[in-house]
Amino acid sequence: MKIEELNVDERIGSAGDVLTESQKKRGLLIHAFQSIQKEHNYLPEDVLQQLSKKLDIPLSDVYSTASFYKHFYFNPRGKNIVCVCMGTACHVRGAGKVLEKLGKTFGVKEGETTPDLSLTLETVGCVGCCGLAPVATVNDEVVGDLSAKKVDEIIKKVKEG
Ligand code: FES
Repeated sequence: MKIEELNVDERIGSAGDVLTESQKKRGLLIHAFQSIQKEHNYLPEDVLQQLSKKLDIPLSDVYSTASFYKHFYFNPRGKNIVCVCMGTACHVRGAGKVLEKLGKTFGVKEGETTPDLSLTLETVGCVGCCGLAPVATVNDEVVGDLSAKKVDEIIKKVKEG
């Protein structure tokens, strides 16, 4: 999304009839964040500054709104997002070892991204597939019964891009 092309009235539509100018602009923030993140894979600071100017909303308010949601990121994320479930079922079935192996292989800790942006390693509480424990998601695809072989396959897939 090009910030300079952002048209407040067009985006808000008929709902704008009952909103103030300020409300209309603030109403666009989430949509703008989604578009920006889709394009950049995170919310770059310079783009948020442009958005702040375009909508005449203080930058602190822009950050405050974005940071309220867990789904917006302020640092570059990897091309591959591997998320190891650390919920109880996965934990007792060896998720810690899976996380450790992935971390050691790629030289990152939980929440970090490799310098080449090939991988971001994350954890989650439970993805609702406890019967398949230990579980990880690889770019939103659930991989269960994570044996050492399956972890090696994930590693190979990430390394191959
Ligand atoms: S604890 Fe891992 S899927 Fe539920």
